[in-house]
Amino acid sequence: ALISLRQMLDHAAEHSYGIPAFNVNNLEQMRAIMEAADETDSPVIVQASAGARKYAGAPFLRHLILAATEEFPHIPVVMHQDHGTSPAICQRSIQLGFSSVMMDGSLLEDGKTPADYDYNVDVTRRVVEMAHACGVSVEGELGCLGSLETGQAGEEDGVGAEGTLTAEQLLTDPEEAADFVRATQVDALAIAVGTSHGAYKFTRPPTGDILSIDRIKEIHARIPNTHLVMHGSSSVPQEWLAVINEFGGDIGETYGVPVEQIQEGIRHGVRKVNIDTDLRLASTGAIRRFLAENKAEFDPRKYFAVATQAMKEICIARYEAFGAAGQG
Ligand code: G3H
Ligand code: 13P
Ligand code: NA
Ligand code: ZN
Repeated sequence: ALISLRQMLDHAAEHSYGIPAFNVNNLEQMRAIMEAADETDSPVIVQASAGARKYAGAPFLRHLILAATEEFPHIPVVMHQDHGTSPAICQRSIQLGFSSVMMDGSLLEDGKTPADYDYNVDVTRRVVEMAHACGVSVEGELGCLGSLETGQAGEEDGVGAEGTLTAEQLLTDPEEAADFVRATQVDALAIAVGTSHGAYKFTRPPTGDILSIDRIKEIHARIPNTHLVMHGSSSVPQEWLAVINEFGGDIGETYGVPVEQIQEGIRHGVRKVNIDTDLRLASTGAIRRFLAENKAEFDPRKYFAVATQAMKEICIARYEAFGAAGQG
């Protein structure tokens, strides 16, 4: 059944666990997520980005998620819109039946230019007013995602700051976070702590100077009742990078957010953990390996099946590591 993000995260806070929020674009990702949730008895958050809407079309995405609730009626599902860049975009998702939307007012409508604080408060508050009137939850974002090593936002279609960000923009300020939540009444707050979208997050295994779990602790201490969201939280499994590179791929040395650091975040108020890249890496590795080893095969169902299995294993591992398993 579809439920709101607020309902799901309130339960997660009460029972001290986190929930992976997986991006969906196609049937194979959807099936991997649902089968993993079914096997581990986990609640589900699936999110559609602007890129996903461009790829699959909003009606197909919506029906894909609704089909999941039909096949797995016992699993609670949040249908979330990821990184909305304007109130109008969020409004369309609310009309389509999403149970949660993200108004990312940390950037202007172009999805590139860092916005000022007052703009962010204004657009986010407007979305909260509209969404809450419809029983829909809202995630806001304060601070800009990006690397503390380079000041760059990381690659992704549609959302991500252009140019070099300052240390100030890259770490959410706890005092400002408290003011933002009070002024907007958001249900969940995405914070910047040094993570960025995509596979190239860190040039070395992250230490506290480039991934600030301390900042999460400071924010949680200031606003203990706010559900925190970590974006850019793929772990970038080294095993999958090796498989991709062994079977014809070319991905340079790179590191993601270690699962243990996410678990530390979950002990300090993180309730939603956004993951897209890990499923992309696992499916690409599985398909590259399958096609290299089965050169006469041309039935897409065969290579999509190994991709689904690879993604499902990641989903199961995250549900278990974040404590969501058994909470469905
Ligand atoms: O927001 C981040 C997700 O990784 C979405 O990426 O815009 O390429 O679908 P995308
Ligand atoms: P990753 O690129 O680390 O998977 O992050 C996804 C994300 O934050 C989607 O909003
Ligand atoms: Na989101
Ligand atoms: Zn994100």
